[in-house]
Amino acid sequence: MKINLKAPFGKKKAAETESVEEEVHVSAEEALRTGDFGKFDDEDEAKKEQEARDEKAKADKDLPPDPDALLEVRHLKKYFVLGKNLIGKPTSYLRAVDDVSFTLKKGETLGIVGESGCGKTTLGRTILKLYQPTSGQIFYNQQDIAGLKSAKMRPLRTEMQIIFQDPYSSLPPRSTVGGILSEPVKVHKIVPKAQTREYVLNIMEKCGLRDYYYERYPHEFSGGQRQRICIARALSVNPKLVVCDEPVSALDVSIQAQIINLLKHLQNTMGFTYLFISHDLSVVKHISDRIGVMYLGSMVEFGDKKSIFSNPLHPYTQALFSAVPNPNPDEKMNRIVLKGDIPSPANPPKGCKFHTRCPKAMEVCKHIAPVYKEYEPGHFAACHCYPQED
Ligand SMILES: Nc1ncnc2c1ncn2[C@@H]1O[C@H](COP(=O)(O)OP(=O)(O)O)[C@@H](O)[C@H]1O
Ligand code: SF4
Ligand SMILES: [Mg+2]
Repeated sequence: MKINLKAPFGKKKAAETESVEEEVHVSAEEALRTGDFGKFDDEDEAKKEQEARDEKAKADKDLPPDPDALLEVRHLKKYFVLGKNLIGKPTSYLRAVDDVSFTLKKGETLGIVGESGCGKTTLGRTILKLYQPTSGQIFYNQQDIAGLKSAKMRPLRTEMQIIFQDPYSSLPPRSTVGGILSEPVKVHKIVPKAQTREYVLNIMEKCGLRDYYYERYPHEFSGGQRQRICIARALSVNPKLVVCDEPVSALDVSIQAQIINLLKHLQNTMGFTYLFISHDLSVVKHISDRIGVMYLGSMVEFGDKKSIFSNPLHPYTQALFSAVPNPNPDEKMNRIVLKGDIPSPANPPKGCKFHTRCPKAMEVCKHIAPVYKEYEPGHFAACHCYPQED
């Protein structure tokens, strides 16, 4: 709106003489129909999108939890506060996990994949309530634990364990392997005290650790053996859900397969359910039943391993696939190299968050976020390359 500053009369007169040049904004429907986003209000559309997502989360809140799922996550958000004003009110956020939903069935493995910084660790930690969720629901065994205080979470702590990336820093250097593994067993009274040693030795055997390691210290072991100790520690309390956060990323490639095979074997014999986080699709491939692909805090594709591998829908998944080495020398690899760095989740791009790097980006992608939709049974994606309407 342009104001005529030369108005000679009082306020009222001035208002009357304003030369009105109203910005005319077009609706999303109109912009989509014409393909002209010149008069499209990105801010307004982002606000509307957010409101629609909040409405959806509200509407989904009363739906009963999936009876087949050990874990069901609905519209989960974890925002870190970046700045506060003088009275302590948050003024800016980093949206590390932004409206993520999925289910994980008992005894299955869900692989979460995506580049560094896309929110995988935050997702895993928020599910385990190591971070308090900003909003959303986390059903563990059909119980919403998102709002549970730590005292009420305590009985569930043993059932939900985490294995970290770095087997070097996650073990106390001054305790023996026996001491490290016995401690949680004693604290959580897993077996009568007198049976602790025998119980721990049994867990060690299951994890491929010799019994004489019991008296040894972590520094005496290689990375692979240390990760076995970490796995044994997590399993010693009889968990149901294990979050494996890049458990093989710090290991040599030759050792990676051994640890993955151990995790698979333990799942088959002990029935664990895994949330397996990795930046490496080729690692996730070996262990997962289902795969979720994350980008800048959002789930951009989700489906069972077969559908994701045979028919990756999202251009980001396609780019991740193109980087996986192909063992067949006759098949030509068409590597899709993503341009630019991953943007900051504190200031993500408008529209589709991936548009700044997407080889298939269209004009619409810069302005309107794609809908996360089911395109094949159980196979979801968020991309304008596919129909957006119901
Ligand atoms: N405690 C924290 N406080 C503020 N920002 C954080 C914190 N933890 C992670 N982040 C930010 O959240 C984003 C996602 O991080 P993370 O979950 O570690 O990603 P990933 O595990 O996929 O590498 C990153 O931008 C990271 O800098
Ligand atoms: S919505 Fe557009 S920018 Fe986003 S992934 Fe699909 S084609 Fe690429
Ligand atoms: Mg991480």
